[in-house]
Amino acid sequence: MPSAVLCGLGAWLPPDVVTNADVAARTGTTDEWITARTGIRQRHVVRAGTGTADLAVEAGSRALKSAGLDAVDYVVLATTTPDRLCPATAPEVAHRLGLAGVPAFDVSAVCSGFLYATQVARALISGGQAETVLVVAAESFTTLVDPDDRATAPIFGDGAGAAVYRAGDPDEPGAVAAVALHSDGGLADLIAVDGGGALARSAGDTAPAHIRMFGRSTFAHAIKNMEAVTREVLAIAGWDLAEVKHVVGHQANARILTAVTQRLGLPDDAAVLHLDQVGNTAGASIPLALHHGSATGRIRAGDRLVLPAFGAGATWGAAALVWPDLVPG
Ligand code: UT7
Repeated sequence: MPSAVLCGLGAWLPPDVVTNADVAARTGTTDEWITARTGIRQRHVVRAGTGTADLAVEAGSRALKSAGLDAVDYVVLATTTPDRLCPATAPEVAHRLGLAGVPAFDVSAVCSGFLYATQVARALISGGQAETVLVVAAESFTTLVDPDDRATAPIFGDGAGAAVYRAGDPDEPGAVAAVALHSDGGLADLIAVDGGGALARSAGDTAPAHIRMFGRSTFAHAIKNMEAVTREVLAIAGWDLAEVKHVVGHQANARILTAVTQRLGLPDDAAVLHLDQVGNTAGASIPLALHHGSATGRIRAGDRLVLPAFGAGATWGAAALVWPDLVPG
């Protein structure tokens, strides 16, 4: 059975930057509080008229170039901020990438979106339905944030990361060794956007679609579940913890990532942190962190990586892979 092998990586951040000082001026928090409690220093934001498809096309085209491909068999877009409620954003992304005609669909799993989409790609490839799959994770989460809400405005940013998977051998670098996924709808109230959905519309509720988050309890669930699912995915892959070089987790909070790494008994510097520059970009955060880590030379070919995430849904999961020799786009 073929394995899904990572063979291309791309990223894109919208050029406009909002600093902690900008957030502080508007919400009454401080740069010091945001930096100390989250590790975030700035975030990139879409400007008026830019949407998720725009980010996805930029990241997707870079990933295709990195893979040396101009065609794929499927396009899977992980996003919780589609440009429209209907239709899905993926067909537009595929069309704009010159891939019109290929199956293209959205996957909505919020901060675990890249992992869920990767699992779909694995299934398509190992099931013989696809030789190549483009997975894009793109989010314009700041469009859901109330800019006056100090609980969420410091946290979220926009961006996109993309990966190309091809059919290959399970033993070659880049082969996704294992993915473990979970959900618990009983935790749906932790992080939610109530406005704009069918429930609100059927009730005639026209309140704006703003994200709300119970930060403290999300924090506790994130640490517990990211640790557990990391151990789970390593057991599936048959790897020892001591073999793991980098934990490239969902970039919600630096304290979550260092706590997970410490609980696993790994050195603090095993956690790859990118959120100081980009904030929490939801589903896009893992591929953006992978891109940052590999483009800066920190993540090198042959390194063993584990990628854990936890977020709204609740959904959580992890993937394990040996980093391939690729040039990120
Ligand atoms: O991406 C999806 C997954 N999301 C996450 O994983 C997010 C997880 N949660 C977090 O990252 C953190 O809970 C936050 C960064 C959201 C909040 O940090 P915290 O350390 O959990 O703060 P807290 O909510 O426990 O509040 C601590 C204190 C409180 O004051 P008192 O009661 O100790 O006097 C808050 O009122 O900090 C206060 N506070 C703030 N102060 C200044 C809360 N938010 C702010 C703020 N500025 N923005």
